[in-house]
Amino acid sequence: MIVLGIESSHDDTSIAIVQDDFVIFNYKISQINIHKVYGGTIPEIASREHFNNFYILLNKLLNSEHKQILNQIDYIAYTENPGLIGALQMGKLFAFALSKALNKPIKGINHLDGHIYSVLLTNNKNETKKIIYPALALVASGGHTNLYLLKSKEEKKLIGNTLDDAIGEVFDKVGRTLELGFPGGPIIDKIFHSLKNKKNIPIIKLNTPKTKNLFDFSYSGFKTQIINLIKNNESINKKHVAYWFQKTIIDYTCLIIQKAINKFLPKTLILSGGVSANKYLRSCFLKMHFNVLIPDFEFSTDNGAMIAKALIESL
Ligand code: KG4
Ligand code: ZN
Repeated sequence: MIVLGIESSHDDTSIAIVQDDFVIFNYKISQINIHKVYGGTIPEIASREHFNNFYILLNKLLNSEHKQILNQIDYIAYTENPGLIGALQMGKLFAFALSKALNKPIKGINHLDGHIYSVLLTNNKNETKKIIYPALALVASGGHTNLYLLKSKEEKKLIGNTLDDAIGEVFDKVGRTLELGFPGGPIIDKIFHSLKNKKNIPIIKLNTPKTKNLFDFSYSGFKTQIINLIKNNESINKKHVAYWFQKTIIDYTCLIIQKAINKFLPKTLILSGGVSANKYLRSCFLKMHFNVLIPDFEFSTDNGAMIAKALIESL
């Protein structure tokens, strides 16, 4: 099955073609450099950029060796929800126009399913990855921290959720508070790795929250603690704060995942969403289970290939 996938839910515009598990191509334009001057995504600007970027990506496709594949595709998949409404509309409009022009069927896809199935994507024709059920899947992104129990391909149950901010959102807010740049996630991760083998980093203790449901998360308290820390201690080393923030928030998240593993005994553990690019989080997951699936870095953050793959898995 060959599917063209379209993603525009937030600040990445992407089109991709996937054949079963194999990614034939995955073109993407990120808007980060445009939004970072505002310290966050501006929805109106995002929509306008998606319009321009779809035009650029379509031209790139039509001028490439892959042009011929357009005649062979079985389906067009686009992100239907969740996401910024105007941004989603751009993707939908583009998908419907392509569907008419190419006379191919079309299907709207849930963005979070895209993240889950991104773990199966590969750039290697000889490789196949498989989810063995039951599976436990964490979708950790800028908008979500959802923990699912996948009893089978058809039975997906949300067993844990964030009660306030999403984990990626807190990375970005803390990055802003520490004046490290935007988006904070990858920047903090880099600082963490530059310091992790250094001895004698002064300990900065951050409290971790307790939630009524064992598998829920709460992240906004991390942000408040960092704001207060900076306010009360102007000379504090911001890189040290970033280090302890990443260590504490990831250890806290993994402790909850470990409890879920103990209870549900999954045969596969999945980590996905933009925050799955975090190297410390990846290493914690790999230690917790014998069968862990994590997307290649290219497929961690939003992309069209994962939307195509979610459609393939839904048929
Ligand atoms: O899934 P995604 O591309 O977009 C949404 O659907 O939200 O995730 C973007 C989020 C941002 O909050 C970004 O800071 C975070 O993923 N992120 C990271 C890393 N790379 C991206 N967070 C922590 N460590 C990283 N290495
Ligand atoms: Zn996403």
